[in-house]
Amino acid sequence: MSFAPHVRIVEVGPRDGLQNEKTIVPVDVKVALIEALADAGLTSIEVGSFVSPKWVPQMADSAEVLARIRNRAGVRYTVLTPNLEGFDRALACNVQEVALFASASQSFSQRNINCSIEDSLARFVPIMDKARHHKVRVRGYVSCVLGCPYEGEVPAVAVARVASRLFEMGCYEISLGDTIGIGTPTKARSLIERVAADVPMDRLALHFHDTYGQALANIYACLELGVSVIDSAVAGLGGCPYAAGASGNVATEDVVYMLEGMGVKTGIDLSLLGLAGQVISRHLQRMPASKVSRALMARGL
Ligand code: HMG
Ligand code: MG
Repeated sequence: MSFAPHVRIVEVGPRDGLQNEKTIVPVDVKVALIEALADAGLTSIEVGSFVSPKWVPQMADSAEVLARIRNRAGVRYTVLTPNLEGFDRALACNVQEVALFASASQSFSQRNINCSIEDSLARFVPIMDKARHHKVRVRGYVSCVLGCPYEGEVPAVAVARVASRLFEMGCYEISLGDTIGIGTPTKARSLIERVAADVPMDRLALHFHDTYGQALANIYACLELGVSVIDSAVAGLGGCPYAAGASGNVATEDVVYMLEGMGVKTGIDLSLLGLAGQVISRHLQRMPASKVSRALMARGL
């Protein structure tokens, strides 16, 4: 067992969470959420995406969101860009970091970005060139790493293939998405072992949705292997518009509580984080999905 002494949390709630809301959350509310997350100590925050507004109208205001959030030393704001058109729109907003997203499953790739895995990787090459030229950092995602809503089982070797292609292309970190939250700890661990044979462990991130309530257990199993980056969404916001039934990402409050309780540092203030989650949950007229947040609320915190 070799837990990393410090884990970096990548907060994806403002993007992965809000992209799946039925109603479009106003820019003011998004900006207030992002500021509250930064106040709580989050240093990596995914704030939107430059995808087709016809496909995901919830993210159509990402340029406005970027224009309104305050630049802070040491805080990185990232946006998703599926193609050169999206990258150019992001570049016009002076972004410093973008994320590309590919899938380990052919059917999901087709439904999510309307092209094959191979075509998506080919689209990324000119983005990488331009990003290098403009000194924009690029993160890479692989979806469906523990199962696909259309194809079922996805072999670990297929995940490793896409992950290593993204890494070789120049993505500084590869985030492995259990898009439909279907994995279990032993499967998650074997997957990480297989992918880490091709991409260094310290360049891997976990992006686990919590549909089947396994995310925290899966994260723990992978932490034992030395993983040090975890994606999560405040209040457990989220899902994926192209994966029916997929629920939110693992809640940031739950991950932070677990890690700090184990002596692993995150740099995040749990009570400020809980407040950020409560405010957005109130706006969405529901309770936070985070159990930790509910426990804090029950104690009046
Ligand atoms: P397409 O229809 O094949 O695109 O969509 P196209 O190139 O044929 O263009 C069609 C129209 O879209 C054109 O406009 C383009 O200008 C426009 P028209 O001439 O008809 O007026 N267009 C764009 N507009 C704005 N921004 C752009 C853009 N590109 C084209 N970037 C496309 C292809 C990739 C655009 C579409 O499929 C798309 O937007 N998909 C995004 C889906 C998405 O956002 N999914 C959720 C994020 S991924 C996720 O949640 C998984 C993750 O969390 C990890 C995990 O959990 O596994 C990351
Ligand atoms: Mg996701």
